[in-house]
Amino acid sequence: MISEITNTMNNLRAYFFKSALLMAIIVCIVGISCTGIQKADLSEPGLKDHFSDVFLIGNALNGTQVFGRDSLALDFTAKHFNSIVAENAMKWGEIHPQPDTFDFTLADSLVAFGMRNDMFIVGHCLVWHSQTPRWVFEDSLGKPLTRDALLQRMKDHIFTVVGRYKGKVKGWDVVNEALEEDGQMRKSRWFAIIGEDYIQKAFEFAREADPDAELYYNDYNIELKDKREGAVKIIKSLQEKGIKVDAVGIQGHWHLDSPSLDVIDESIAEYAALGYKVMITELDVNVLPEPNIVGADIAQHGSYDEKLNPYAESFPDSMQQVLAKRYEDLFRIFVKNDSSITRVTFWGLHDGYSWKNNWPVLGRTNHCLLFDRNYQAKPAYDAVLKTVPIQTETK
Ligand code: XIL
Repeated sequence: MISEITNTMNNLRAYFFKSALLMAIIVCIVGISCTGIQKADLSEPGLKDHFSDVFLIGNALNGTQVFGRDSLALDFTAKHFNSIVAENAMKWGEIHPQPDTFDFTLADSLVAFGMRNDMFIVGHCLVWHSQTPRWVFEDSLGKPLTRDALLQRMKDHIFTVVGRYKGKVKGWDVVNEALEEDGQMRKSRWFAIIGEDYIQKAFEFAREADPDAELYYNDYNIELKDKREGAVKIIKSLQEKGIKVDAVGIQGHWHLDSPSLDVIDESIAEYAALGYKVMITELDVNVLPEPNIVGADIAQHGSYDEKLNPYAESFPDSMQQVLAKRYEDLFRIFVKNDSSITRVTFWGLHDGYSWKNNWPVLGRTNHCLLFDRNYQAKPAYDAVLKTVPIQTETK
């Protein structure tokens, strides 16, 4: 009798254990599929495959993605993109935080991922006024460096970083954002200490460090008339001195209604007519109302207001269509100029990763890319595919 009771108890215990296990598995499966997030289907062509005969399609990666803390990110990147750039990892403050300290951890992993996947890796960026520590411009007593000392520091930095990735990073944003909105030189510390030829020097050092890498001048709003004139002046004067700039990078942090398509089209044509390749290097389309801020200087900030964050809960279908149309129009211009455009890089893998959630106003919910926060293609994705000249086979 006692053994029968013990048996029954054991059976019941086993039954409950199995049921609990089964329930847990079901909850997990339902949970995962309810989020709508699935591993990228690598058998299907990705965005890059549709454009394989047109231009490279790139994206900017961060540490969460590269180190696999987001387990979906790298497969997704490999499916859709054939070019990558570090969103922050190669900026001076990240890769060279102290005079004698370099931190290559993230940049190395990013480059290794790009090499494994046969991607065109872009280095961003060597000389910039933002995300560059103060010490770069100062001596050990905090006094401004002399021109020669700053040039030496620039050279050492460029030689170390470009040298490390020689043959792997195929193109460098050598100078980023050297211009003001009116087309005059930005009065950065680079400019103040070295003078106008800091740009020339940066290009010379980069060319010497890796003669085979492509070298770019990268900036925002250089599609607009005044700033475009400034950019043309810079690259022409380099050209006159025999210094080759391989391409102009138009960042492309754009809006639903500006800049106009004509302005973008004209600017690409003008750079191309001067003999430069053009790259759209940091594409996103802001969908939120903006505080009174022009351009994409990361030093500018606006304060939070609910009116500036209308799509915090969801992004309505009507707006998806507006965004889709804007992306389609932009890609029609890029495809039309495919003889001069060699790469279009998006600034962020999906909406949740976009810097535009926190700039110029902290804590908003932007929807400016082709994929939503669950890695699902938005109507803008299909709209972009409509612009592919001839459907091509998967690479
Ligand atoms: C942004 C990054 O996306 C952010 O994560 C960072 O906090 C600030 O910089 N122009 C550039 C990019 O050239 O490097 C900037 O990236 C966006 C504007």
